[in-house]
Amino acid sequence: MKIYVDSADISEIEAAKALGLCDGVTTNPTLIAKTGKSMLQAIKDICAIVEGPVHAEVLSLEEEGIFKEGLELSKISNNIVVKIPMCHEGLKATKRFYDEGIDTNLTLIFSASQAILAAKAGATNVCPFVGRLDDISETGTNLIEDIVTIYDNYEIETKIVVASIRSPLHVVDSALLGADVFTIPGKVLTQMEKHPLTDMGIAKFLEDAKKFT
Ligand code: G3P
Repeated sequence: MKIYVDSADISEIEAAKALGLCDGVTTNPTLIAKTGKSMLQAIKDICAIVEGPVHAEVLSLEEEGIFKEGLELSKISNNIVVKIPMCHEGLKATKRFYDEGIDTNLTLIFSASQAILAAKAGATNVCPFVGRLDDISETGTNLIEDIVTIYDNYEIETKIVVASIRSPLHVVDSALLGADVFTIPGKVLTQMEKHPLTDMGIAKFLEDAKKFT
């Protein structure tokens, strides 16, 4: 099991690293905009502190632009994974990156059929968005189950990076299904630590410790 930090915030990434919870990082334009940095600077700063894969997203939506942008991104550091929005042109670019030996992540995956095409195009990773499916009253983790089953059926090596994780339950349910990677925001990592019975148990131990002679 791998845990990535879904963030471009250096302090959030450092906090996860301190707990051994940063096997990699995923970013997207929304997360980078929150840092107030340029895309290039934000990615460079992350690569300076993360040894594992750093997923950096292209903005182009046509094959040639995606390919050129991805090549530029991959020059920043040898751990860059080129993140590409799922679309027809993105699939064509993914095939080219595969032929060049450059790792990719097909993101914004909302159906098993998209995940099949991504894998066949040679994507190294896919990012199904569970939270955004829940937002429209579909069960996001059902998609994880479908992709896990299909990839297992055909021994497909494309990694399933569960994204748009909004709660600890998304992580646990996807882990029970056997997803490869969970990309988790700092807030959810913190929520995963907590249990009210743990807090009550600690309080009781400390209270009872006052009775020591
Ligand atoms: O990894 C994708 C993630 O950043 C999107 O999350 O909560 O905006 O759907 P969310």
